Amino acid sequence: MSATYNFCAGPAMLPPAVMQKAKAELLDWNDQGVSVMELSHRSKEFIALADQSEADLRELMSIPDDYHVLFMHGGGRGQFAAVVNNFLGENGRALYLVDGSWSSSAVDEAIKLAGEDKVDTLNIVDKSNEISKVSIPNLHEVKQDYRYLHYCPNETVDGIEIFDEIDSPWPIIADMSSNIMSREIDVSRYGLIYAGAQKNIGPSGLSIVIVKDELLKLPQLPQASIMDYRLAVKHDSMFNTPPTFAWYLAAEVFKWLKDNGGIAAMAKTNTQKAELLYSFIDSGDFYENRVAVENRSQMNVTFYLKDESLNEAFLAESKAAGLVALKGHRSVGGMRASIYNAMSLEGVAALVEFMKKFADKHQS
Ligand SMILES: Cc1ncc(COP(=O)(O)O)c(C=O)c1O
Repeated sequence: MSATYNFCAGPAMLPPAVMQKAKAELLDWNDQGVSVMELSHRSKEFIALADQSEADLRELMSIPDDYHVLFMHGGGRGQFAAVVNNFLGENGRALYLVDGSWSSSAVDEAIKLAGEDKVDTLNIVDKSNEISKVSIPNLHEVKQDYRYLHYCPNETVDGIEIFDEIDSPWPIIADMSSNIMSREIDVSRYGLIYAGAQKNIGPSGLSIVIVKDELLKLPQLPQASIMDYRLAVKHDSMFNTPPTFAWYLAAEVFKWLKDNGGIAAMAKTNTQKAELLYSFIDSGDFYENRVAVENRSQMNVTFYLKDESLNEAFLAESKAAGLVALKGHRSVGGMRASIYNAMSLEGVAALVEFMKKFADKHQS
């Protein structure tokens, strides 16, 4: 079988080397005679894995000592709720920046849990001429006190990314589900970073939370114990049974990242991959991207065929060529190529090659 390149937005492809290793040790992990998924999370072997994974993540992202690293259940949406319940308390208010579909869903959840009067929103995307462009006002001029500012630096559905660090008077909570570890960031600028694992970290079912100790002093609302950050800290992310197999794969992805030059090396390749694809899309008039150049996501490249009647043919022919999961999100249509850390430059080059041939064949 020839190579299949998987452009799924999530659950996304994992590094092939990690998958091969997981396959080889699936039935007998670490000389235990059993699979890692059949082992107690409280065994000394699993605890060693957990400790190592945290140490590796701390090293990869240069996480300061006054931050906790948590491995939790519930994906990205679980964290939409957790941040509200952990930080808003009875009298808190929060500001949510909206730059696309996921930040908007985070607002819905916050309103559901805390009430409309506790949640302010600021739309930061201008869509004039059908081109999405982010512009963030000076937040220091906002005359209101907030417990936190929530935003999503990479909107997976819309293909919009915010590259500049935000200057905020309030602690920043960032949903980095789809761009965590894709480029270097300064963790100390954030109050909390969270990410569902299923894009750049591992399989779904796990979410990573990086939280500054100081934030854990904020008053909280009653909530399910398994989503309580303080309990997660107290129990080293093992208040209840964690998603152990997902955690093991995340640990392997962290090792793979370290063996392959860390986040700086990923960032370099991610830029090359995105440039290759966007410059091809811009080079003719068969395809188009609808995001301002400075906000084009390096992880989720959205594009449209100018003649949308060719969409079905594009998807069928790309699939036959081994390029799968290119359909855009149902809410926005078009196409989307998700090119997370695990996607090679060769994979993106194969996609560009296919897109060229498809355009040549169907150009009228
Ligand atoms: C940026 C972002 N936030 C949140 C979510 C929701 O994640 P989950 O499905 O794990 O709840 C997603 C899912 O794709 C996402 O891309």
